[in-house]
Amino acid sequence: MAIPQEVIEEIKYRNDIETTISQYVNLKRRGKNLVGLCPFHSEKTPSFTIYPENGSFYCFGCGVGGDVITFTGLIENLDYIESVKLLAEKSGVTLPQDGYDDSMQKLKNRIYDINRETAKFFHNHLLSDGGKWAREYLLGRGLTPKTIKQFGLGAAPDSWDSLIKHLKEKGYTISEMLTANVIGKSQRGTYYDRFRKRVMFPIINIRGNVVGFSGRAMPGEDKMGGKYVNTSDTPVYKKSENLFGINYAKNHCSDQIILVEGNMDVISLHQAGFCNAVAPLGTAFTSEQVNLIARYTKEIVLMLDADAAGQKAIRRASQLLENTGLNVRVVVIPDGKDPDEFIKNNGADRFKALLSGAVSDIEYKLLMAADGLLLDTDDGRLKYLSKAAQILSTTDDVMARDIYIGRLCEKYEVSRTALTSKVEEYRKQNKRTQRKKEINDVIRPKFTKDDINPERRKSLKGVSAEETLIAVLLQHPDFLDYAKENLPPDKMITNLNMRIYQTLLDINSQGRIPDISVFAQSYSSGEVGYLVSLQNSGKAGENAKIVLKDCIKVILEENTLLSFGKEENQNTEDWASKLQEIINKKSKGNG
Ligand code: UTP
Ligand code: MN
Repeated sequence: MAIPQEVIEEIKYRNDIETTISQYVNLKRRGKNLVGLCPFHSEKTPSFTIYPENGSFYCFGCGVGGDVITFTGLIENLDYIESVKLLAEKSGVTLPQDGYDDSMQKLKNRIYDINRETAKFFHNHLLSDGGKWAREYLLGRGLTPKTIKQFGLGAAPDSWDSLIKHLKEKGYTISEMLTANVIGKSQRGTYYDRFRKRVMFPIINIRGNVVGFSGRAMPGEDKMGGKYVNTSDTPVYKKSENLFGINYAKNHCSDQIILVEGNMDVISLHQAGFCNAVAPLGTAFTSEQVNLIARYTKEIVLMLDADAAGQKAIRRASQLLENTGLNVRVVVIPDGKDPDEFIKNNGADRFKALLSGAVSDIEYKLLMAADGLLLDTDDGRLKYLSKAAQILSTTDDVMARDIYIGRLCEKYEVSRTALTSKVEEYRKQNKRTQRKKEINDVIRPKFTKDDINPERRKSLKGVSAEETLIAVLLQHPDFLDYAKENLPPDKMITNLNMRIYQTLLDINSQGRIPDISVFAQSYSSGEVGYLVSLQNSGKAGENAKIVLKDCIKVILEENTLLSFGKEENQNTEDWASKLQEIINKKSKGNG
């Protein structure tokens, strides 16, 4: 157990879940619970539920759940210890300095240190004689020495082990270097520098720590590993949750943030004075990144390539951004250039003009809808207006709908009544599909129980009994002694539920009452969500003790059935190995 349970209790008591969450989510009362739009996925009707009774939350749409600490961690992008610290600070609880196991935090700190040391190593190499090629390359691309320094750009030497040697000298172990993902291990078991002969871009998180790297090959030298090689996920880095440039942009984006595609675009824009540019790191834009942005700004400008992939990315991004309350605008860069090239060719003023011409995403969609249609024919116009009506039907803003309907009617000479009723028709249709989808979502959460418990298919009946058992025990911890006597943990059918059951018994034997927060420290947020959903499922029913007895009976029966199957397999294997033995003997005898 990391932080003492009493301290956690105190923190949870002082940071009431309802008050804390209502700082981020608009909540409405529904019976004894509260509901709101889930901040962790995009939805139109609320499936994010808070249970003040036991201080937990659960989203039926996406499956996340937990307590006030888990919530803070998810929404503020913090790990468990960090969110405990934040809530402690907010509510004036002093944390004990020692006496809790912070080995994960220590490992993370080591990785932060390795990353900073590595960034320094690459930067120094760039400034040395050996890094002339990288310096020339970056200056050749129009970056100033000041920009190179600001972003801490570097050069990875053309060598297989110079970083390993350097980090060893500084006292880091191979295992730490592997965890930081700055080195790799070959099939022969040797270690090598992951980045070689590349221009290096340190990835810096919102709190200013170097969390990873992106390395660009020199033109014509990208056969090995591609044009960019990036750090894979590590304990301090999840690429889906980070944005390149966010450490600088966060101080310049209260009005607007610009989303571009690449590192070089971000750097060029910052150099030209647009310090609010960020880029995802070699992935499609994700909902975690949306959450990160939504906390800092009011408006997002999507400035992605004009090619087909870029168009797809814009569609995806604008879908993710729906319901976030963020204003979304789109800029299309002429001639299919990227922002970096555009600025280099046209200068900052032209870029500013481009930015001010950013259209709302509806306007953008209306523009794109005309693609491939012959607007000078009646048929083409009809098709276009129908597509346009569909687009307009997606906005809830009555004024916006009215304005665009007016413009379209004038331009394409149709009556206002006709177009308005077409839009309304689509709106009704959308509502029906939306409802269907949401009902589906509630019945079949996105993180289905199958994802959380991959062994579910072993025995549906058995797993269902396990889940009810856990639900009963969470609601009636006083039955834990009885359970312990009648159901040894190793009789549980699936590993996840065995682990949960074991944790429950451990807590009980320490004389404590199990609480979701106990799980939040060593279980994933999906697993905690699973527990919260069980806790609030009403599975325990009225006669909890009888239900519990039944569950134990079913689990034991199913377990016997399954282990019978196992024994059979065992026998088959024995038989096969005996046969092999006989064959071996025979061939020896012959030889
Ligand atoms: P681009 O190919 O558009 O590169 O990839 P770029 O940013 O314009 O780079 P320059 O101007 O050629 O130097 C856009 C982004 O996609 C990711 C990188 O994050 C890159 O910045 N990417 C691209 C990779 O992760 N791997 C690749 O092999 C290529
Ligand atoms: Mn580029």
